[in-house]
Amino acid sequence: MNERGGIVVLDFGGQYTQLIARRIREQQVFSAILPCWAALEEIRKLEPAGVVLSGGPSSVYDPQAPACDPAVLGLGVPVLGICYGLQWIAHTLGGQVRRAERPEYGRAELKIQNGSELFRGFPRQLKIWNSHGDHVLALPAGFRITGQTNNAVSAAEDPARKIYAVQFHPEVQHTDRGTEILQNFIFRICGAQPNWSGASFISGTVEAIRRQVGEGRAICALSGGVDSAVAALLVHRAIGDRLSNVFVDTGLLRKNEYQQTLELLRERLGLNVLGVPAAERFLARLKGVTDPEEKRKRIGAEFIGVFAEKARELGGARFLVQGTLYPDVIESVSVRGPSATIKTHHNVGGLPADMPFTLVEPLRDLFKDEVRRIGRELDLPEEMLTKHPFPGPGLAVRLLGEVTPERLATLREADAIVVEEIRRAGLYEKVWQAFAVLLPVRSVGVMGDERSYGFTVAVRVVESEDAMTADWSRLPADVLERISTRVVSEVVGINRVIYDISSKPPSTIEWE
Ligand code: XMP
Repeated sequence: MNERGGIVVLDFGGQYTQLIARRIREQQVFSAILPCWAALEEIRKLEPAGVVLSGGPSSVYDPQAPACDPAVLGLGVPVLGICYGLQWIAHTLGGQVRRAERPEYGRAELKIQNGSELFRGFPRQLKIWNSHGDHVLALPAGFRITGQTNNAVSAAEDPARKIYAVQFHPEVQHTDRGTEILQNFIFRICGAQPNWSGASFISGTVEAIRRQVGEGRAICALSGGVDSAVAALLVHRAIGDRLSNVFVDTGLLRKNEYQQTLELLRERLGLNVLGVPAAERFLARLKGVTDPEEKRKRIGAEFIGVFAEKARELGGARFLVQGTLYPDVIESVSVRGPSATIKTHHNVGGLPADMPFTLVEPLRDLFKDEVRRIGRELDLPEEMLTKHPFPGPGLAVRLLGEVTPERLATLREADAIVVEEIRRAGLYEKVWQAFAVLLPVRSVGVMGDERSYGFTVAVRVVESEDAMTADWSRLPADVLERISTRVVSEVVGINRVIYDISSKPPSTIEWE
């Protein structure tokens, strides 16, 4: 499969590590991120054409500084160090790295020299993007400088050992011709082939799942979202009906979501899905609870309870399929070590000890838009591909205060109006998420000739690339007006609508 011959990115905890991997995949070359401390064997197993050492927030001379096995530099394939990667190479091979008198953040001018393959065909000056407080004072023996800024060595290499390094960030858009620098590394220097595509990902992954699961059985908790559906489809392709799927109605889903999703999964995707109506259990568990974390914990625990029961009933599954994506595992992959901060609802680490599962996570190297592309190749219906993300704890975290059936019904109606109007305005696929939040705040209004004292609905519509950061959507005033008018007139008990204009950070997308 084409996952061999790709580029391995070793993560030193840099904020752009995932961006590096993504830029490589945009070149149709497979790229996997491994923690910097990955064993040499693990790297070798992927048979990479090259290795990239990412940036990172530490200083190489700190006692706790993250490091990789120095033998990575002698693997026989080209290595590209970026930022901390460059400093780590210099430090490890006998050069000197110090705190810079003039740290470089943001734009700078790179003066290119000595004809590096990385900069082949480039002018002598290039606008680049920096983010570093340390710099290299002395290069290791055998290295030559290939680029400098006014303040520091900015690119260096030892072509004989196939080691290349840049202090700036070619992966960010602010660096001019950054993509070409990466292309030069991937294709000219590493000789990688652009043969990684959706189709090759599917065939390679199906093959890998078959190898992993063998003759065993697997079980998957579907959430109704695109990630778990794509994961299930891949596993279904690999092992057919030895995969059983469970879709739980927590009572916290959107209007009509349970029935519609169940039909779609069964009839359009041909998946073997057990629907579990469990709303009452969840609501009972949430009675009287208002604290957001407590809500999340109880929903998570109840979910695991329901799932464990059904898994036992279905019997014999040793493998658990999860639609975990790269942003979900980023913390556990990072240099801080396996902290496993996968989102509560996806995290089945809390499964009872008598149900030992081996995880099957076919999407753990991918980003959401890549999953959507794979889903499209698997003929997932467009309505599911473009569906907005929905949190595991569902409407419970969009309903501030106690979760009751009445309040859920109110929120469902308001939420359905928000989504309907966003769709009608042709904006559904342009925004990341659009939803209503029910606030426990009452205010005075006048309806007809009467005083009202109703509750407030907040409308949240955000734009984002990966949910790690987000900005509120500048919706046209007439769309906001239609939403507001409809919510107040159609949803009983609501007399005020507000629009959330907070970005993430410092707010989050969900309110709880
Ligand atoms: P926040 O609110 O942290 O949300 O900005 C980021 C993205 O994650 C979704 N989200 C969740 N997804 N389980 C999930 O599967 C959860 O517990 C959960 N909480 C938040 C949220 O909708 C947004 O897209």
